[in-house]
Amino acid sequence: MKNLVQRLWSSTALPQSLDFWLKQFKVNFQFDTPTVKVLDKAIIGDAVKLVLKPSKKCHAFLAGQHIRLKVFIDGIGHERCYSIANLPSSKGVIELYIKVQGLVSNAIRHQVSIGDVLDVSQPFGDNHSKRFDGFVAGGIGITALWPLFLSAKKDNPDLVLLYLTRLESNESGLPKDNKEYVLFNEIRQSRAFTEGKVKILDGRTTLTNANELLNHFGDTSRLLSCGSEGFNQQVNEVVKKSDKQIYVEFESFKTAEPANISEEYAEHQIILTKSNQTLTVTNQSTLLESLLEAGLKPQYGCKQGICHQCTCRVAPSSLLNDNNKSIQLCTTVPNQSLEIEL
Ligand code: FES
Repeated sequence: MKNLVQRLWSSTALPQSLDFWLKQFKVNFQFDTPTVKVLDKAIIGDAVKLVLKPSKKCHAFLAGQHIRLKVFIDGIGHERCYSIANLPSSKGVIELYIKVQGLVSNAIRHQVSIGDVLDVSQPFGDNHSKRFDGFVAGGIGITALWPLFLSAKKDNPDLVLLYLTRLESNESGLPKDNKEYVLFNEIRQSRAFTEGKVKILDGRTTLTNANELLNHFGDTSRLLSCGSEGFNQQVNEVVKKSDKQIYVEFESFKTAEPANISEEYAEHQIILTKSNQTLTVTNQSTLLESLLEAGLKPQYGCKQGICHQCTCRVAPSSLLNDNNKSIQLCTTVPNQSLEIEL
């Protein structure tokens, strides 16, 4: 009898079992994983706005950081990375605007309800620690740059933010009110907008004319551009053609590409030069997955090739080619043995 009670107790009291039941009863706590509770959900144009209450396991976030959100589709957990669109506040909530465009965002739109508890990563991203003279946001990219701008302009009142979107102007040349655009009203009503430090411009015309885009910034500026890959490419083209000494960092949003897994199984040796370890990994998973499985703790964030946090230098002895001196662990499936500076 005592044994039976002990077995029953351990099968229900294990942290994993308790986590399962806590989630079923929508309790915002898991033993090993940070979680959030959905406090509010709204559809705004082609985006879903979620207001989330982090659990005590979540670290406080900084302006401009991101989190990965996990949703289950047919029993399989899928993670995606989203920018936190608000500034940290005493309420402690996180706001996300999620553009509905793929499997996971559609599941969030249709399956996630107010009161649900979802697994998340800890907040990540280090843009808050860099100094920029201006920001250029394309479409949903504004969610990453708006809190970063609000926070950075406290130290740099000359900071400029351009929000490029599809736009129609009213008779006085101001952008027409459009509740369908993410953060549009909040930005229009801000002091920074009235003072001309934030400009909402039509992306189609602004990106075809270097002067339209770059005249908002000084001759030597360091900018952060955030939008789709196509948007960032266009910004890059404009900057390359300009005479100004403008340096731009890019942050792109893209749907995660499935890793290029080979059909033919192979094993490779990975030498970690800094930690002096050698691992045998397969070509059936990404380097990040293999390293985590081996109990190592490499730095990573989005797991989607976006944030560059998992970028590692490849040691000169195993350079893949002259131009490829670093790799992203989360998107690299090894097809040869490598030495990584990790
Ligand atoms: S974890 Fe973000 S690029 Fe690899």
